[in-house]
Amino acid sequence: MKYLLMHQNFEVAEIDIDMDDGRLCGMGKVFCAERIPVGIAVHDGTPDFDMLKSWWMHRSIPISRSGIRKALEVLEMQTSQELLTKCMGLSLSDQYWVKPQDSDLQWEDVNFFDNEFSEDVGNILFGDKPNGTLNMLSPEGASDGWLKKKWKIIDGKRCLVKGGSSFYQEPFNEVIAYRISKRLGIAHIPYTLSYEGKNRMPVSVCEDFVTRDTELIPAGFISKVLPMEQGENKYAHFVRCCEHLGVPRVQESLDELLVLDYLIGNQDRHAGNFGVLRDVKTLTYLGFSPIYDCGTSLRYDTPTVYIEPDLDIESQPFLHFHNEQIQFVQHPEVFDLEKLAGIEEEIAEIFNDDRAAAYIDAARQEKILAVITKRIQMLTELLEQQPWETEELEQGMKME
Ligand SMILES: Nc1ncnc2c1ncn2[C@@H]1O[C@H](COP(=O)(O)OP(=O)(O)O)[C@@H](O)[C@H]1O
Ligand SMILES: [Mg+2]
Repeated sequence: MKYLLMHQNFEVAEIDIDMDDGRLCGMGKVFCAERIPVGIAVHDGTPDFDMLKSWWMHRSIPISRSGIRKALEVLEMQTSQELLTKCMGLSLSDQYWVKPQDSDLQWEDVNFFDNEFSEDVGNILFGDKPNGTLNMLSPEGASDGWLKKKWKIIDGKRCLVKGGSSFYQEPFNEVIAYRISKRLGIAHIPYTLSYEGKNRMPVSVCEDFVTRDTELIPAGFISKVLPMEQGENKYAHFVRCCEHLGVPRVQESLDELLVLDYLIGNQDRHAGNFGVLRDVKTLTYLGFSPIYDCGTSLRYDTPTVYIEPDLDIESQPFLHFHNEQIQFVQHPEVFDLEKLAGIEEEIAEIFNDDRAAAYIDAARQEKILAVITKRIQMLTELLEQQPWETEELEQGMKME
């Protein structure tokens, strides 16, 4: 079926969607090449079709998402791209959508920043039984990530509600990471804890940091705008791509991200878990988005007895281990780790709730606090070693 790829009310290109499985199967006229999603190569005003196809596919819920197969079965759909098409590709993280070519719908009529949306699909993704006729119009179809999650309007605000995996630690980690950032003055979207369903499952809740005037562009798309040069490391390449686009405060924001990730031992800062914000009307870059998705940290997937606080934890996105990656921080002197004094008590308070203790027992709480204490101490020692040791770093870069 013929659709228009839209960016708010800007017509971007004619596209064809296969209604059997929601795949993008054709492209027609291009009306506005500069609004083709960032990272898709455009030659003489024509976007690379394979890249556009892959962009559409990656906009749908990944098949690795916990519970997606069951949800698709319940919704009687074959692929998550079908669900994406039913939701017109609308998201609460950016402003792209698809409009049937013969329709006169306007962005104002459909966007979820201003219009209410159904929680039916979100609830099914959380494992609820469907109840009556389902309303498919929701931003869930265009949401990324592997944890169970749903968008919900709470007190008039669009919020992302997210569960945990095997040890249910991720929601707590989101809150802990936010508290650490807050003390250090690092821009981080505030996370709170909530408990859902009859088993009072812990979930994290954060507000949408994208507004009707802005959008998030994940780092993975930014790093596609320029090819990597020979001998260039991933950090330098990413900085060059950001600077090429005119993103402000790149080095400062990366310093903040790297410092926080070191402190929490984040293992999953892949190129979808950080990004920049852009003004949708002017296409100007506003800077990095506040930090989000810190759940995969503090040894979240390790059985309690095996948690070792001083382990050199694996890192992403620039190098493989935090002890190496941290050395990309350009201005370590900016971070006053003394501001973290007593953070353990603040974090212990988060666990001081029967609903929290039902999932994170006393032994695990103690280990989590020990990891935080140890990593603050390790980073303090590293920061005292001035200037940075660059030998290991150079070797690490060669390994990339
Ligand atoms: N507060 C937010 N505002 C807008 N978009 C968000 C926000 N938090 C996350 N996202 C978007 O939703 C996606 C999934 O959220 P994320 O927290 O990364 O989940 P997961 O832990 O499953 O990877 C992110 O990749 C990002 O695109
Ligand atoms: Mg994520």
